[in-house]
Amino acid sequence: MKLVTGCCKAANIFRRSEDSVKNSIVVPPCDQSTSTITTLPEIHSWQRHDPLRGLNIDPEDVSSLTRRMSTSQIMTTFTGAMMALTFLAIIGIITLVQTVEGKPFPAPDLKLCNYTVRSFEGCCTLPVRLGSLKKFDFQPQLPMRVRPAAHLIDDAYIAKYQRAVEIMRALPDTDGRSYLAQYRLHCAYCNNHLYYEGREHPLEIHQNWLFLPWHRLYLYFHERILAKLIGDDEFAIPYWAWDNQSPIPPFPGEIPKAFAHEWSLSPNAINKTSSLYDPDRNSCSKNPQIVEFQNFTACPLPQNKSAVREQNAQLMWTQAVSVSVTPLIMAGAPYRFGDDGGMGMGGIEGRPHGPVHVWTNTKDMGTFKDSAADPIFFSHHANIDRLWEAWKTLPGKYRKDVTDPDYLNTAFTFYDEDGDQVSVTVAQALDLDLLRVKYQELPMAWTDKGTVTEGSKPTWSFCNPKSSESDIAEMVKNTPRFKEPVWLKEGPVTFKLKRRPWLSDRHGEELLQIKANFPWNSSHLINVFAFLPDANYETSSIGCLEYIGNLLSFPHVGQAPAVPPVVNFKMGIRRKLELMGRAHLKEIVITLVGEKTIPSAPPGAQGETGITLTSLKIIHSKK
Ligand code: C2O
Repeated sequence: MKLVTGCCKAANIFRRSEDSVKNSIVVPPCDQSTSTITTLPEIHSWQRHDPLRGLNIDPEDVSSLTRRMSTSQIMTTFTGAMMALTFLAIIGIITLVQTVEGKPFPAPDLKLCNYTVRSFEGCCTLPVRLGSLKKFDFQPQLPMRVRPAAHLIDDAYIAKYQRAVEIMRALPDTDGRSYLAQYRLHCAYCNNHLYYEGREHPLEIHQNWLFLPWHRLYLYFHERILAKLIGDDEFAIPYWAWDNQSPIPPFPGEIPKAFAHEWSLSPNAINKTSSLYDPDRNSCSKNPQIVEFQNFTACPLPQNKSAVREQNAQLMWTQAVSVSVTPLIMAGAPYRFGDDGGMGMGGIEGRPHGPVHVWTNTKDMGTFKDSAADPIFFSHHANIDRLWEAWKTLPGKYRKDVTDPDYLNTAFTFYDEDGDQVSVTVAQALDLDLLRVKYQELPMAWTDKGTVTEGSKPTWSFCNPKSSESDIAEMVKNTPRFKEPVWLKEGPVTFKLKRRPWLSDRHGEELLQIKANFPWNSSHLINVFAFLPDANYETSSIGCLEYIGNLLSFPHVGQAPAVPPVVNFKMGIRRKLELMGRAHLKEIVITLVGEKTIPSAPPGAQGETGITLTSLKIIHSKK
């Protein structure tokens, strides 16, 4: 596998070894005849004949379009008749959509964990006592557990947490509650081990809409087990508040004290004996270093911390506020029983979630397989979970959870606090109140346009020196429109796009939609800018006011589609344009900048390593 350098190392998050990618091509034999699922390609071909193209409305939103049309309106005039035809066409589309609809994943049988394909036996060795599979029920009798900010907990809390994990580590490996069994769960769910009878592809809980609910539930049971082991129902896993850029100690951006290298509860012992310590952490993640979302493997010593903080806050704002304006953008691509996995990450999954993993510990946290070997994993994901919850409270009409039944009815299997197997659905994950969990409040200054701390508003400036009104008008005039598919090579590609901002009120958020043929077997990062045609690999930065978002994809290990998948990336664009003072423009200039090591083979050539941009436009959507 190629290693990329510089800021585009994001493409390298969660590296998978060459071998594992190769291995993934081999899939276990399966009985195709039992398959009843109509898979993604049909949805794609439907999208290719998009009858709503001229309207710039996301085809996924057609059902809401039909609801607004009354029959009498349709029949009265000639326009009405035309609408009636449209209506019939739409009904046809809806029927088609219904017939291509997949199904939810049933709770996997952990006994079907298959390690022969990937040869990571360690992920599959199961506890001896599997017991019967229970169905999860809420436990309303539990006290509300408040997950505290990890940088604010006191020594007594740390000691309690350490003790709980110590007991967990001491349990026999055959116990589902043991640390090893807990580690294996994550490994099995994300490293292509969990197969279903008669299905070709294993279950994958990253790079799709299962990412947020799966990790929430994993954390829930892990926490319940720890609580039971120390007999304290109020115990809650602390969250690592790396989104908070406070420059006042204790710094939320450092590895929290409980997990840190050079810190100890007792003055005579170092933390290395702590059950929360992982010896494989990166040397650059040692305190007083703070987490970096952009140059997360650069290891600058000393860091320019105020610049890092500013850029972290800018990325938080861009990903959570500006990009993630609809349920599916936040959650990730739809993923139904029988689908190829990995068809698109949610709004905060790629960044900042990925960089925090790799910055912490390239060996464990930086891989899918071994992530949960480092106990800081759980505090990292507690923060992701908190940000998911916080996202629903940000301004915007569509910041809600996905309501698709295939999402809600998908089920997972975990071990509960008694070590029994328990199946639980995505629907059961969506209400934190019902799970009796909440988060200690902490300011989220980044929600306000990248503000780092109260009272200090950094200026978020243009990277393009030619940014006057006339410069921009000239740029728009001289930029070609996107017409036909282009092969993305090294260096930027720039196109102008037409906006119809007035559609937003009725048809949902204004989104930049990028469809690209992405190789399924390698990692790629493409940064997207508005009005920055000179952006290149070296100069482009998430700190530019022109930064709109990114296209990020990792190898779809274990999922080997016959044709390179067309990945449908969407990102909110309106808020960034407003911040730039350019929301009034009818045409905008978009630049895509690939990583330095972008595949050199043309798309479709041997190995299908190229990236082809197949569609680029502004659409409106509620989903
Ligand atoms: Cu399952 Cu942060 O990874």
